[in-house]
Amino acid sequence: MRKKVIAGNWKMNKLPNETISFFEEFAPLVKDTKNEVVICAPYTDLFYAILSAQNTNIKIGAQNMHWEENGAYTGEVSPQMLKSIGVEYVVLGHSERRQYFAETDETVNKKVKAAHNVGLKPIVCVGESLEQRESGKAKEIVTNQVKLGLKDLTNDQITSTIVAYEPIWAIGTGKTATKEDANETIKWIREELVNMYGKENADKVIIQYGGSVKSGNAKELFEMSDIDGGLVGGASLKPDEFAKIVNAV
Ligand code: 13P
Repeated sequence: MRKKVIAGNWKMNKLPNETISFFEEFAPLVKDTKNEVVICAPYTDLFYAILSAQNTNIKIGAQNMHWEENGAYTGEVSPQMLKSIGVEYVVLGHSERRQYFAETDETVNKKVKAAHNVGLKPIVCVGESLEQRESGKAKEIVTNQVKLGLKDLTNDQITSTIVAYEPIWAIGTGKTATKEDANETIKWIREELVNMYGKENADKVIIQYGGSVKSGNAKELFEMSDIDGGLVGGASLKPDEFAKIVNAV
């Protein structure tokens, strides 16, 4: 049985004092869950998040990183830097990074390998645009992102990688993919992982859904056969709302 992983992606939101008060309210609300709970915070909040999450069941993730260990890369943060302060997860290839910051499947692949090299668990985002879905290209786009972004990993690396299926048209729009569409697309992703790494490995990979997940739709999404939890944007900023999502299943 795959575990459900419910991760909040705060994006570019919250200051350190807001981070601390979030955890004070949120941690007691999710202390009994059997799901893995992750908060992916901005760099400047990470250390406060890690301190606030001590002695709780909440894990901390970053939202990006460079693939190199160190060097002349002004403004970048390395995998080792994240690991050294206690970060355990890192979101890679989010559609906002692909769209605004020229992230490609090739850089995603380098980052996935670099994350594993230091023991960070990558949450790798894939997803199609509305135009691609309407023209019947969703399967091709999403499986291609998986093929290129997750290529050449070891069995241990692929089975500790999380994939987040986030249709771009559902992010921050209030439009959620139907639970059937989300489940079907996630099945396509797993089929591609079977082609790449064999069934035994593919069956272990956690694949989340993301895109306008709220307390009102989390249960029906997370109960689908192939949806192993969620990557939650806007609704993860409010402690009570995000706790309801974590506790939905
Ligand atoms: P929303 O939940 O705000 O739609 O964002 C989804 C997302 O992009 C999570 O990474």
